[in-house]
Amino acid sequence: MAKITYIEHNGTEHTIEVENGVSLMEAAVKQGIPGIDGDCGGACACATCMVFVPEEWQGKLGSIEPMEETMLDFCEHSAENSRLSCQLIASDELDGIRLNMPQSQH
Ligand code: FES
Repeated sequence: MAKITYIEHNGTEHTIEVENGVSLMEAAVKQGIPGIDGDCGGACACATCMVFVPEEWQGKLGSIEPMEETMLDFCEHSAENSRLSCQLIASDELDGIRLNMPQSQH
């Protein structure tokens, strides 16, 4: 179980508990968190689940698969620390992580 905080571009925070093994996109969509739409259902094909991950958490995430990297390359709002939350899977290690969302997602 991991406590995940999603931060909207306007600064509004949403903290939820996510069971291990569930994607951070899926958990956010289920809880109705604004800013994470997950339009493609987690297929790495829409980038409406993008988040910015603080540097100190980068090492705890799984590596970026080529498909995710390509999708992020195409996304005009992506940055160095962008990840697609459908590719991030909750684990005890991620307990306390804080994820920012881009302005384009609200
Ligand atoms: Fe579409 Fe993540 S849900 S890329």
